[in-house]
Amino acid sequence: MKTIKRIGILTAGGDSPGLNAAIRAVGKTAIRDFGWDVIGFRDGYLGLAENRFVTFDKATLAGILTIGGTVLGTSRDKPHRMTIKGKECDMTDVIAANYRKNKLDALVCIGGGGTHKNALRLIEKGLRVVTLPKTIDNDVPFTDSTIGFDTALSIATEAIDRLHSTAHSHHRIIIAEVMGHNAGWLALGAGIAGGADAILIPEVPYDVRKVAAAILLRSERGNNFSIVAVAEGAKSVSDSALFDAALKKKKAAKTKEQKDVAKQELAALEGKHVGNTMRLAKELEQLTKLEARVSILGYVQRGGTPSCADRLLATRLGSACAHLLAQGAESVMVAARGDGYTTVPIEKVAGTLKLVPSNHTWIASARGVGTCLGD
Ligand code: F6P
Repeated sequence: MKTIKRIGILTAGGDSPGLNAAIRAVGKTAIRDFGWDVIGFRDGYLGLAENRFVTFDKATLAGILTIGGTVLGTSRDKPHRMTIKGKECDMTDVIAANYRKNKLDALVCIGGGGTHKNALRLIEKGLRVVTLPKTIDNDVPFTDSTIGFDTALSIATEAIDRLHSTAHSHHRIIIAEVMGHNAGWLALGAGIAGGADAILIPEVPYDVRKVAAAILLRSERGNNFSIVAVAEGAKSVSDSALFDAALKKKKAAKTKEQKDVAKQELAALEGKHVGNTMRLAKELEQLTKLEARVSILGYVQRGGTPSCADRLLATRLGSACAHLLAQGAESVMVAARGDGYTTVPIEKVAGTLKLVPSNHTWIASARGVGTCLGD
């Protein structure tokens, strides 16, 4: 086992509250407990490719625990397909060279699905990488939770709470669009916690007539308003079938041409799906004759100070990460498990998503309190 003297940290993918708490925990533990040098790369994998970094010490790691976003900056750049001076380049070898030039003994990548796929690409080039799971979507598998989810859940819940009084006053349907393209954890969690009357998530294709029927039933019972929490990736039964078919085609594609065609088909479907929540509002208006409004919560869910739970999670996992590295960990994600942590091979995490299973307790609870899931 090679003794560690110097580590690098980067944050990649969409930002989320708690990233700074994680950087601080990895860095402080590395410096205080092990005396390592710690540097942080700017803007995710892009900064590593361009060798842009800052040196951390106890002073520069102080005062960032409660700050939202990431002091390092982030990007969605992929090592193997990076736009450099307007040209798409494979930068994996450059990244490996920068890792060595900086005499790094390990790299800590904090991110979600894309970050794990990219971490694997660097491991294949011989880099020692350990990851931490973060995303407000909570869709990283093999971890109880991801850094940022709890904060986003609170923000979305508060928004739904606030939408209640205005929906009630105007006798309207208000649709709160919550983030989550593939996974519905945020919409489902906030919908349940905020008491939404209908919750639509990507994992449960919806029939708009069923949502309208649930709203009309509420009207008949004297509740002339309704709140619908909808994940941005929620789809009707027919749209969902089209997406499934295109995804199947992409998976089955063997040649580059077939892959390109399948990718184009998927991109066209994605393009058509943009604005789906607005169309849903129109359809509900037509079917219920009630006025409908849309509130897109958007990036508000990712911004601002992290919740106590996210600060705790990030500090727990970040500190554990430094200790695990000292014990020789490599090619693993440090995952939350109960009050503690566990390690999961990055190979297992990369390319998989944690979706809401149909038998999940949250689904059962939502149905239990009479929430319409559109199915
Ligand atoms: O992955 C987190 C997330 O916030 C998703 O919920 C959302 O769909 C996406 O990022 C938005 O990405 P971007 O920041 O690239 O617009």
